[in-house]
Amino acid sequence: MKCTRCRAVAAVALPRHNAGFCPDCFQVFFTRQVEKAIKDNLLFSKEDKILTALSGGKDSLALSRELKLLGYDIAGLHVDLAIPESSVQAREHVLNFCKIFEIPVHILDMDKECLPIPEIKKRISRPVCSMCGRIKRYYFNRFALENGFTVLATGHNLDDETARLFSNVLRWDQSYLGDQGPVLEARQGFVRKVKPLYRLSEYETANYCFITGINYCYTPCPYSKGASFTYYKSILDDLEHEQPGRKISFYEGFLRRAKKYFAEREDGRDTNLKPCPRCSYPTSAEICGVCRIRAMLSAG
Ligand code: AMP
Ligand code: FES
Ligand code: ZN
Repeated sequence: MKCTRCRAVAAVALPRHNAGFCPDCFQVFFTRQVEKAIKDNLLFSKEDKILTALSGGKDSLALSRELKLLGYDIAGLHVDLAIPESSVQAREHVLNFCKIFEIPVHILDMDKECLPIPEIKKRISRPVCSMCGRIKRYYFNRFALENGFTVLATGHNLDDETARLFSNVLRWDQSYLGDQGPVLEARQGFVRKVKPLYRLSEYETANYCFITGINYCYTPCPYSKGASFTYYKSILDDLEHEQPGRKISFYEGFLRRAKKYFAEREDGRDTNLKPCPRCSYPTSAEICGVCRIRAMLSAG
């Protein structure tokens, strides 16, 4: 196969674009997809102070490299979850990457915050992933607001986003559907959140890291086995294989034609929010979810 742009030998085939690219042209393709996502959705500008959430995995590192090369003002935040089997490796990959690309990086230790994930896991019978996700989102938001960042960027890709959309549609979850998309505007107590990689698949970010020499963390979280998203991703992969382009048309079709019917509900939900009496961050409950987890741990 020949490269669609320069006719050299292609290294990456992209059936959904009916194209294949050599390593150099693939990077151009990747950058254009990121630029298109930023431009089409007005994600941010050169004036913004952007915090990228860095897990150490391929997506968030690929995103940071792109934003840095495009000249945006970025810094990284890594949340160290204190999971013995994977956190040390993840943190090291983030620190090495940020050193190479001269990106300022901040680390938040969940051990020091009295929220180590393994301790939480011991005390609950449900999978710990949803509590872990809640803690991460809380600290992304809080750190961004307390340190003057105007935007929080995560490495969610097309596979993450379509699996989430599929799951939300299966449950017809109105409030999650109203919030789903590449941008969630800032509201009282919440920083603006963006997902500039939503047009790129996991396969594409993995290839990008391989081609650009980004050394990312492969060690999976030991608690994530059997998550329902993994199953939805495999269903959508089969669909994409049979019908190339299905994922992006499902997602963009939702954004263009369906999201507005769910988004109208946002205002109604916001009125229920008030500051958590312990940490002052918004919650619709008596005490916010993260303060409740901390209280559960300190109760022993
Ligand atoms: P995941 O939920 O693990 O698929 O991660 C989605 C995105 O959340 C990643 O691309 C990162 O931007 C961010 N993220 C996940 N885990 C962490 C972490 N421990 N520290 C900082 N950012 C993270
Ligand atoms: Fe949070 Fe696995 S990364 S439970
Ligand atoms: Zn709180």
